[in-house]
Amino acid sequence: MVGFLKSLLLIALLSCAYGLNQCAKYLCKTSDQDFLPETCAYQDNITDTYYARKCSDSSYDCVSDATSSYQFNYTCKVPTPLPVNSLPGEWCKTLDDCLYSTACNDGICIGTPKGQPCTYNGQCEPGTFCSSSNVCTAQIEIGETGCLYDSQCVNNGACNITSQNDLSMNKCLKFRSFSVHDPVGHCNTGFSTLCPYIYCAEKEPYMFYCTDLFSTANGTGTQCEMNNRGDCDSNEDSFFSPAYSVEGDCTCGFNSERISYCSALPGDAPYKKYMAQLLKWVASEAIFSCNTLNRFDDNCIKTHWDKDNYNTYVYYEMQANGYQWYVNAPDCVMEAFAQNYLQAQAAATGGNDNDNGGDDSATFLVSFSILTLALISQ
Ligand SMILES: *[C@@H]1O[C@H](CO)[C@@H](O)[C@H](O)[C@H]1NC(C)=O
Ligand SMILES: *[C@@H]1O[C@H](CO)[C@@H](O)[C@H](O)[C@H]1NC(C)=O
Ligand SMILES: *[C@@H]1O[C@H](CO)[C@@H](O)[C@H](O)[C@H]1NC(C)=O
Ligand SMILES: *[C@@H]1O[C@H](CO)[C@@H](O)[C@H](O)[C@H]1NC(C)=O
Repeated sequence: MVGFLKSLLLIALLSCAYGLNQCAKYLCKTSDQDFLPETCAYQDNITDTYYARKCSDSSYDCVSDATSSYQFNYTCKVPTPLPVNSLPGEWCKTLDDCLYSTACNDGICIGTPKGQPCTYNGQCEPGTFCSSSNVCTAQIEIGETGCLYDSQCVNNGACNITSQNDLSMNKCLKFRSFSVHDPVGHCNTGFSTLCPYIYCAEKEPYMFYCTDLFSTANGTGTQCEMNNRGDCDSNEDSFFSPAYSVEGDCTCGFNSERISYCSALPGDAPYKKYMAQLLKWVASEAIFSCNTLNRFDDNCIKTHWDKDNYNTYVYYEMQANGYQWYVNAPDCVMEAFAQNYLQAQAAATGGNDNDNGGDDSATFLVSFSILTLALISQ
């Protein structure tokens, strides 16, 4: 959630480029530019160029002054702490950090136990969901029938929804256990977590199948033109007719050449690393300690997975989702505008010394992911 908001800010920053199809240019501050001590960037809106440098403290955010009318300065500010909003099973310091919980015990939010009344899935303790009769009920095991939503299945499973009426036809099955071109019950906006490569498509009316693995046809992180549709297209899967393919986003990056790049698709190298780490999480015991809605949420992963795996996960996730922004970006620009990414990188690769006791979740920029979009039908 936190990450989602932060990445929207980032996207707004990158897309407010001057000129319709032109990207901004990102450079380091030059020696003849006289910045105030707290200034981290300056935007020249005549040439649409940003001049950046890092803040004196890496925990600061570099934010727009917004009030200026002609030249736009960016200033280093202490980040405003964001509310924690942990679901049952996730970390807390006090009950204020918890959503829908009755207590914060031993640093974990405590929700409604099995057998007790509920209104939302988010209230129920890990291992349970809020049933149609409004009782927190044990999640359905892999191979058993009776589900209508993914949230009703155990945390490493999803519901193969074959019928909306006869729930005995719907089975909870393991995440990503299907093969390419297997039939799948439903395909939620083109995604199914039962499919090996997440994408699915309709072949005949109301008949959905898992697709092949999609990568960017012209190579990971290929350059693209904003209004040239097709530059970021994937390979085609001709099992479907017409052949099915997907399209990455063509997005301005933090580079000095005004170049836009294609976002990574699941078959592209950065995404593969992220997927592998996600699968490791799904195969771990720790996933069962999450509330059903937050089984893939960074906040729950942070609470229950070991630190190395969590740090790797966050870094790969940001790399997979933000590849197009960071490729070929000057260091000074990364330090000003993508400090969260650099910190995740340092944490994952062992170069991070300034651990402040574990309460650093709000400083991580975690990008919006097609996975988190696609996951968990409630
Ligand atoms: C931006 O900062 C520079 C110095 O760092 C200052 O001279 C200039 O007036 C500032 N512009 C605005 C609009 O605040
Ligand atoms: C620069 O920004 C000012 C204030 O927003 C605006 O009036 C001016 O037209 C801009 N110049 C260009 C070249 O966009
Ligand atoms: C999943 O659902 C589809 C569509 O109803 C069905 O054809 C398929 O056999 C199911 N898969 C499994 C493994 O049960
Ligand atoms: C890939 O690149 C070639 C030439 O470099 C271009 O003609 C083609 O349209 C590109 N394909 C896609 C899907 O962008």
